[in-house]
Amino acid sequence: MKIVILGGTGLIGARLVVLLERTRHQVVSASRRTGVNSFTAEGLASALEGADVVVDVSNSSYTDEAGAAEFFEVSTLNLLHYGAAAGVRHHVALSVVGTERLARSEGGYFRAKALQERLVRESGRPYTIVHATQFFEFVRSIADRGTASGVTRVADVMIRPMAAADVAHAALGIALGRPHERVVEFGGPEVASLEEFVWRDLLRDDDPRQVEADPLARYFGAEIGEDELLPGADATLTATRFADWVARRRAAR
Ligand SMILES: NC(=O)c1ccc[n+]([C@@H]2O[C@H](COP(=O)([O-])OP(=O)(O)OC[C@H]3O[C@@H](n4cnc5c(N)ncnc54)[C@H](OP(=O)(O)O)[C@@H]3O)[C@@H](O)[C@H]2O)c1
Repeated sequence: MKIVILGGTGLIGARLVVLLERTRHQVVSASRRTGVNSFTAEGLASALEGADVVVDVSNSSYTDEAGAAEFFEVSTLNLLHYGAAAGVRHHVALSVVGTERLARSEGGYFRAKALQERLVRESGRPYTIVHATQFFEFVRSIADRGTASGVTRVADVMIRPMAAADVAHAALGIALGRPHERVVEFGGPEVASLEEFVWRDLLRDDDPRQVEADPLARYFGAEIGEDELLPGADATLTATRFADWVARRRAAR
């Protein structure tokens, strides 16, 4: 099969491209850095020519609602349109567990992701939407966003984060299988509070910031319940624990 990875140079995309290069399938890494712009459609027709599967792991560089919404709307419509013309048989899109719940109370990024998901669902094209929980690699940005005067305040919620490498493996399995025509959820092996994971993440660099769960703090603008970032009971749980991920990063240094 020919498999095109949109966002193939990103955190998840680069890992997915490496995994696919070890298979017998033809893989094309598509992003602006490789001459493909899904927003302007530059290079899209040629990248998708003869493709069987498209995996969209791109991301918007804009987090404000207008910018993110414009990116995900135009980019997704272009991908579906050019994909249909090229005869793509499976459109896979990576999104976030709880997107619809987050979109309900937050006007920015998650509403744009919910729009992306709706366009894929309603396109009439064979699809699977992969929902992943927070990446371990993303926990530090959550900490940085909530820090003021040496104290990091985070939303008082539970999370089940996962390693980017495991997200790439999950996306690989989906890309090589049949379209599910629904959302398929993945999460990490451990559940703990966001406060606990932020604290563990800061500890790995001896970062002296204090961490507090603040019942009034929002999660990227969203007001959400304690369990709303967690996947459902049918989610596939991946293997890498946070401590394994830290150990692997240390060994790779
Ligand atoms: N962060 C989390 O914890 C989390 C959790 C679950 C799901 N997700 C989802 O996972 C997805 C991937 O996230 P990520 O962290 O891997 O993203 P990332 O590292 O920011 O990578 C984004 C990719 O998109 C490409 N891109 C951006 N604009 C483009 C354009 N106009 N045309 C073509 N390519 C473009 C970038 O390459 P160029 O700059 O070269 O164009 C890059 O390869 C996102 O959709 C996100 O919603 C994230």
